[in-house]
Amino acid sequence: MIKLVDHLLVQEKLTLIRRKGIDGIHFRGGIIEIGRWLAYELTNTLEKEKVTVQTPLGIADGFKIKDKNDIVVVSVLRAAIPLVEGIMRVFRNAQYGVVGASRRDEPPFPVDISYFKLPPVDNRIVVIADPMLATGNTMNAILNRIQEKGNPRRVILLNVIASRQGIDLVEREHPDVDIYTCAVDRELNSDGYIIPGLGDAGDKAFGKP
Ligand code: URA
Repeated sequence: MIKLVDHLLVQEKLTLIRRKGIDGIHFRGGIIEIGRWLAYELTNTLEKEKVTVQTPLGIADGFKIKDKNDIVVVSVLRAAIPLVEGIMRVFRNAQYGVVGASRRDEPPFPVDISYFKLPPVDNRIVVIADPMLATGNTMNAILNRIQEKGNPRRVILLNVIASRQGIDLVEREHPDVDIYTCAVDRELNSDGYIIPGLGDAGDKAFGKP
């Protein structure tokens, strides 16, 4: 399933962070905010139960989110760091995993996973944060490793911008994975960057505009 998060506030923030020359502070701030929005959107699909609450003047109906304690948020270094910051503001008691992955520069852009440290994933809701879903190779490699590690009850990707090619690869190789993204951009260039995209999300967040 692919879910386009197209709320106007998200789209306005996305427009801002795409801008050439944006400084790191505003870029990181925008990504943190988008992380929160992506997590809100995902929250709507979590299991809930009806509860009642005693107010000072009576009893009101309400909800409790049942799945909240079963979430594992996975940060794909380094570009996902601000995105995860936003996501963790919503899923405050999520467990946390880290993946270090680097993509080689030559087509077909194979991926090396240098670090993979996740808590147990069996029966968990695994939320993988990566701002850019470009070729899909990184995500495919991470999803393969998660599959080897255990049996999550649900796996979700939270992206800021995805390419059609990246989505197609993930959907083909891991059809049960849900993809949340704020935009689907038209193509990749010969270096594997998303066009029009926003450039290198890691460089923009951590120094090089
Ligand atoms: N990673 C990025 O940071 N940007 C792209 O366009 C593709 C991969």
